[in-house]
Amino acid sequence: MLSYRHGFHAGGWADVHKHVAVALLLAHLRQKSTPFVVLDAFAGDAVYDLTGPEAVKTREFETGIAQIWQTTDAPAGVADYLSAVRACNSAAGPLVAYPGSPALARAALRDEDRLILNELHPTAHRALAAWAERDSRIAVHKRDAVELLGAVVTPQLRRGLVLVDPAYEVKTEYETVPDALARAVKSWPQGIYALWYPVLAEARHRGLLASLHRVLAGMERVEVMVTEIAPPPTTQRGMRGAGLVIINQPWRFHDEMSVAGDWLTGRLWQPQNGRHIACALADYPDLGA
Ligand SMILES: C[S@@+](CC[C@H](N)C(=O)[O-])C[C@H]1O[C@@H](n2cnc3c(N)ncnc32)[C@H](O)[C@@H]1O
Repeated sequence: MLSYRHGFHAGGWADVHKHVAVALLLAHLRQKSTPFVVLDAFAGDAVYDLTGPEAVKTREFETGIAQIWQTTDAPAGVADYLSAVRACNSAAGPLVAYPGSPALARAALRDEDRLILNELHPTAHRALAAWAERDSRIAVHKRDAVELLGAVVTPQLRRGLVLVDPAYEVKTEYETVPDALARAVKSWPQGIYALWYPVLAEARHRGLLASLHRVLAGMERVEVMVTEIAPPPTTQRGMRGAGLVIINQPWRFHDEMSVAGDWLTGRLWQPQNGRHIACALADYPDLGA
C-alpha cells in the first residue's frame, strides 16, 4: 500500500530545483512548432494547497518557493517556473498554492500537444483526474509507473519529455526504475528523460546512478547529465540533497541549468540556520555522459 503524499514536500527546495529544470525542458519543447508529448509517470496531485494540513505540518515550502516566488530578476527557466507558480495564486494575496509537475506541463501545452499523467495512489489519482477533467489534451492513467515505463512505445508524437519522479518508498525502486527507464530509452531514443532522486544518508542514489550507467552503456546517441541541489550539512535526519538525471538534454539546457543553479544558490537558504542551499551541475564521471 502506498503511503507517500507529496503534499508534505510541495514547494520545498528539492521541488524548486526539479521544477525549474522541468520548466526549462518544457520551454525547449515549445521552441519548435511541431507538437510534443509529456509523459509524467509519477504525477502526484497536480496542485498543492499550501494552507492544507500536509504542507502546514512540514512547512517545507518555506525552504523553497516562499523565498523566491515574488522575485523579478530570475533568469529564463526560473522566470517561466515562477510565472506558473504566480498563476496558481492571486496577484495581491499570499502564497497559498503550488503547481506540481502536471500543472507545470499543462501550462506549457498548446492545442496539439499532449500530456499523459500516471499516478497509482488512490487519493492523488482522484485529485489528478478531477483536475484534468474536460481537457482533451490530457489522459490520466492509474498504473504502476515502473511497468508503464517499461512498456513505453514510440509515441505518435515524435518529440517529448518523460518525467520519472518516484517516491522511493519501495527501496527496490533504486534498481527497478533505472531498468524500466533504460527500456523506455531503448524504445524511444529521441525522447528527453528526467529522473529525480533523493540524496540520503545511505547514499542509495549512487547505486541508482551506477545501475543507470550500466543499463545505458552501449546505447548510441544517449547523452546524460546530472544536476544536484544540497542544503548545508546538518545533523538532522532526512534528505541531504536531491538530483536530476537528464537524458538527451536539449542544446543549451546544460548552460541554462547552470545559470539557474547559480541564481538559486544565491537565493535559497535554510530558515533554521540561515545558511545557503547550493545548486550545481554534478560531475558523475561513472555515468559515462
Ligand atoms: C514525488 S511524488 C510526484 C511529484 C510530482 N511529480 C511533482 O513533481 O509535482 C511521487 C508520486 O508517485 C506516486 N507513486 C508512487 N509509486 C508509484 C508507482 N509505482 N506507480 C505510479 N505512481 C506511484 C506517489 O503516490 C506520488 O504521488
